[in-house]
Amino acid sequence: MKILVTGGLGFIGSHTVVELANSNFEVVIADNLYNSKEDVLEKLEKITGKKFKLYKYDLTDKTKVEEIFNKENIDGVIHFAGYKAVGESVREPLMYYQNNLISTINLLEVMKKYNVKKFVFSSSATVYGDNGYTRYVESMGRGETTSPYGTTKAMIEKILEDLYYSDNSWNITLLRYFNPVGAHESGLIGEEPNGIPNNLMPYVMKVASGKLEQLSIFGNDYQTVDGTGVRDYIHVVDLAKGHVKALENAPAGLNTYNLGSGKGVSVLELVTTFEKVNNIKVNYKVVDRRPGDLPEYYADASKAFEELRWKTEKTIEDICRDSWNYERKMNN
Ligand code: WQD
Repeated sequence: MKILVTGGLGFIGSHTVVELANSNFEVVIADNLYNSKEDVLEKLEKITGKKFKLYKYDLTDKTKVEEIFNKENIDGVIHFAGYKAVGESVREPLMYYQNNLISTINLLEVMKKYNVKKFVFSSSATVYGDNGYTRYVESMGRGETTSPYGTTKAMIEKILEDLYYSDNSWNITLLRYFNPVGAHESGLIGEEPNGIPNNLMPYVMKVASGKLEQLSIFGNDYQTVDGTGVRDYIHVVDLAKGHVKALENAPAGLNTYNLGSGKGVSVLELVTTFEKVNNIKVNYKVVDRRPGDLPEYYADASKAFEELRWKTEKTIEDICRDSWNYERKMNN
């Protein structure tokens, strides 16, 4: 089977290309390099021993999307490409709606024209909104999203539901990620955010490597195990494998799955685990809460286990070790 991976040079996309290749899928990559680097392609070849055709195209240009399907006999699509910085989306909502929605609609329209109906979408736990629960189950449905980024994910889920309702020959899988972290064990690919990281793990990396002075822990007065925020951190390799299982095992129709570990870990637990595993000190201070943060949420991942026969295998220690290995190898 030949799979088009959009955003295939990005953090989650690149790790998914590795796992697709390991499972003998043929892979074609489309990536406009907005939030990725072209040298990831040679790293993918080094890791897998395989070469991958790259289309350096912007999916908001429908003629470019059509060109890919004209040239390649695509059997299915995993769609990662999209802007994903929460803060940036609040400052630039139109940029997010235009890019994330138009690129997806272009892709779906061309897929329809070429009768390619197998589609896996990179969604997010953020679509649950603040529903007052800590353990999220797919049957809860979507809540009030808290950023234009999250709203584009919720809108695309709705677009896909409407598309399926209009034509149930589509096979659509919505994968709701929790907090993707970690890196491939080779240390060749990992998370490389542009500028000052917003997310916890990349920020910890920069402090541990001396590139940033101190981690700010956003609040320690939540009603959680130790007062700091609790999240479901999932190793990016486990997440990537979830996409392969979705292609291989998802039932017919439209199906939605949480991809998470099913366990909550606090900021302090993550920082102290990182320090212990890597025998390194992370300088931090506790500051005010970050507006918009929820105290605690994590996945009920039982549906993915039962239907996709997938669950996480890597531990929080693996996450801390692999992240630091990447930081040391690629950024020193
Ligand atoms: C995790 C915890 C912070 C940074 C975001 C997006 C979500 C998804 C995953 C795409 C929280 C605390 C963080 C820091 C800190 N992305 N923190 N100091 O906010 O759970 O989710 O990434 O789908 O859409 O919202 O991730 O890593 O920013 O925060 O104390 O410098 O770490 O308060 O408790 P978040 P995060």
